[in-house]
Amino acid sequence: MSIAWRDAMCVGEQTIDDDHKHLIDLINAFEVAIAGKIDHKKVARVLLGLVEYTGEHFAREEELQLAIRYPYYESHRRSHRDVLKKLSEIVTEFTKAPEGPARDRMVRDLTQFLKEWLVDHIIQSDLRMKPYVLQMQAQKAEALRRKREAIAASQKAAGMEPHLDPLGKTAS
Ligand SMILES: [Fe+2]
Repeated sequence: MSIAWRDAMCVGEQTIDDDHKHLIDLINAFEVAIAGKIDHKKVARVLLGLVEYTGEHFAREEELQLAIRYPYYESHRRSHRDVLKKLSEIVTEFTKAPEGPARDRMVRDLTQFLKEWLVDHIIQSDLRMKPYVLQMQAQKAEALRRKREAIAASQKAAGMEPHLDPLGKTAS
């Protein structure tokens, strides 16, 4: 059964949420590739794409964690490395195995691993970032509000009508 995206999976940062949606799509595509007679070339392609995208996603996620001063950055980074290592090992094992029932079984076992890993990655692990992401967004919004106030105050002090954008519309 394919995995469906749910709003409860949102960590609050659009880039990361989009990454997670794409990872779900890739794992669902993997499941389609192994339905019925396994197309091993297609499976290999999907798996390589998954490893590549996962690496890119982890890099983006770690960058965000540094920006939000995530206190569990180091352990999260270590778990990212472990997952990537495991995924790479699986792909190597898969490409080395001769085509046949054993390889088919390996591929089917892999689906379960991928789904569990993904759900665990997002639900158990990444959702812990959410309060920190929201806090950073609130701080940014507050900083922007103060900046706008300061600009309006200086414009008022200079006897100007408050203009906040370069197009010259009067700020509300
Ligand atoms: Fe993630």
